[in-house]
Amino acid sequence: MIEKKLSIEEIKAKIKVVCICKGIKQGRICEAIQNGADTIEKVNKQTGSGDGGCKATRCGPVIKKLLENNGKIILEPYETKVDDDDLDF
Ligand code: FES
Repeated sequence: MIEKKLSIEEIKAKIKVVCICKGIKQGRICEAIQNGADTIEKVNKQTGSGDGGCKATRCGPVIKKLLENNGKIILEPYETKVDDDDLDF
């Protein structure tokens, strides 16, 4: 099997952290989706995302977007939402 070489942009996107609370990267989320996780709950169960201090208020919308994107890496910039209320210090 011939593997496609990734561009620098693809590598950067793949290692970008989606779930900040748990340190789960976009590549891991996409892998779970490509392996059959078709809901946010299933992605969270497979990857460990979503049960950090913010209770998925930051990563949930990005995971939803990745599900809509069929697990393809999102290259364009995106932000995870951070509210003061999310900070659990
Ligand atoms: S960023 Fe995923 S649980 Fe907080």
